[in-house]
Amino acid sequence: MFDFLSGYMEWIRAVHIIFVIFWMAAMLYMPRLFVYHYNAKPGGELDETLKIQEAKLLRIIMNPAMIVAFITGLTLVYVRHGEFGETWWLPIKLGLVFILMGYHGYLSKTRKLFAIGERPRTERFYRLANEVPAILTVFIVILAVIEPF
Ligand code: HEM
Repeated sequence: MFDFLSGYMEWIRAVHIIFVIFWMAAMLYMPRLFVYHYNAKPGGELDETLKIQEAKLLRIIMNPAMIVAFITGLTLVYVRHGEFGETWWLPIKLGLVFILMGYHGYLSKTRKLFAIGERPRTERFYRLANEVPAILTVFIVILAVIEPF
């Protein structure tokens, strides 16, 4: 039914990579905002500014980018489905991607807590949490480009 898609393979892969970059950029930036927000006095000017920035980052970039990365990724799976045979790079990649989606959900939940004036965890925790998408991206991109096994 969707065989015409194979003619747009390179475009779909390009859009996939573009929106993966937007998604990762937002997931690297959100914990950084939490680091600043942690020390902001609830109800103060900085608190209000960061609430707006975090909400916009999630709704305008992080959520839409994840959805487009997912749809283009699944389209790539569909178009190339005959080629994966015994390969393991894609199942392992998708396993790491689901960890990223769990992390996305965690950031979204944490944003809601900051928006109601709570200050969950510690400043140091968000500095470390910042590394999670970076480390996962290294492994995911190597799997996707090299297709090692
Ligand atoms: C959301 C679920 C995802 C699915 C279902 C998915 C699926 C795929 C598939 C099937 C390909 C192979 C396309 C090809 O080479 O023909 C691909 C390419 C790629 N994916 Fe994903 N992907 C997803 C998320 C991600 C994420 C989160 C990253 C990075 C953090 C990523 C990075 C890449 C890269 C860099 C390529 C290009 C590889 C190349 O051109 O050789 N993908 N993806």
